Amino acid sequence: MDQETFSAVDKFIEQTILSEDEALRGAVDAAEAAGLPAIQVSPPQGKLLQLLVRLVGAKRILEFGTLGGYSAILMARALPEDGRLITLEAKPEYAEVAQRSVERAGVGDRVEVRVGPALEALPRLVEEGAGPFDLVFIDADKVNTPSYFAWALDRTRPGGLIVADNVVRDGTLADASATDDAAQAQRRLHEMLAGEPRASATTIQTVGVKGYDGFLIALVEGA
Ligand code: SAH
Ligand code: DHB
Ligand code: MG
Repeated sequence: MDQETFSAVDKFIEQTILSEDEALRGAVDAAEAAGLPAIQVSPPQGKLLQLLVRLVGAKRILEFGTLGGYSAILMARALPEDGRLITLEAKPEYAEVAQRSVERAGVGDRVEVRVGPALEALPRLVEEGAGPFDLVFIDADKVNTPSYFAWALDRTRPGGLIVADNVVRDGTLADASATDDAAQAQRRLHEMLAGEPRASATTIQTVGVKGYDGFLIALVEGA
């Protein structure tokens, strides 16, 4: 089994059970044209995010890491009319591309793109009384995933979900001697969750168009 097969299967899934979408393709094309890296969630994973939004009946979503707005548009489309999504992006030039794609996709009224490092954006969100959130998607700088998770856990309602992307990282999650800071951070995240009564979590390994990785899903428990 190889990368070619993983990509072909993602393609088959996309062409059968995932519906084609002009605006989403537009967002991917705009990101590519602007030179953004093609590291958005895969189409099957994006559909999973949409299903999760609907399953928890989410109305308030927070995303760490906007890139070109692909996952933000997907999740926003699964929101009800009065639902809102805030997405945090460090790079102004990425945020600008995302903002345009979000508007073209017709979800400009539901999505707010905020520019700046997420750790700096968080105190302002608290001041504004944003949240509690129903779903938080963590997909920004991977070394900070544990910090974002800890912050999100305090601000996600019981029954809400926190999803963290890219935690398996070619299997380095299981390598205690991994020298990569991003890999160590995912190990720390899992160790953190081991003794955390406020969340019940699992990690699913994935293969697909983006290679071998995986995501963590945590359900926030009641008090
Ligand atoms: N969620 C997107 C992909 C995000 S890629 C999708 O699936 O469509 C990761 C993004 O996080 C990049 O755009 C990167 O610029 C951004 N990022 C990196 N460090 C960040 C930080 N400290 N704060 C906010 N965003 C950051
Ligand atoms: C990278 C970021 C992602 O969110 C992802 O899914 C894959 C790669 C990256 O920063 O390289
Ligand atoms: Mg990711």
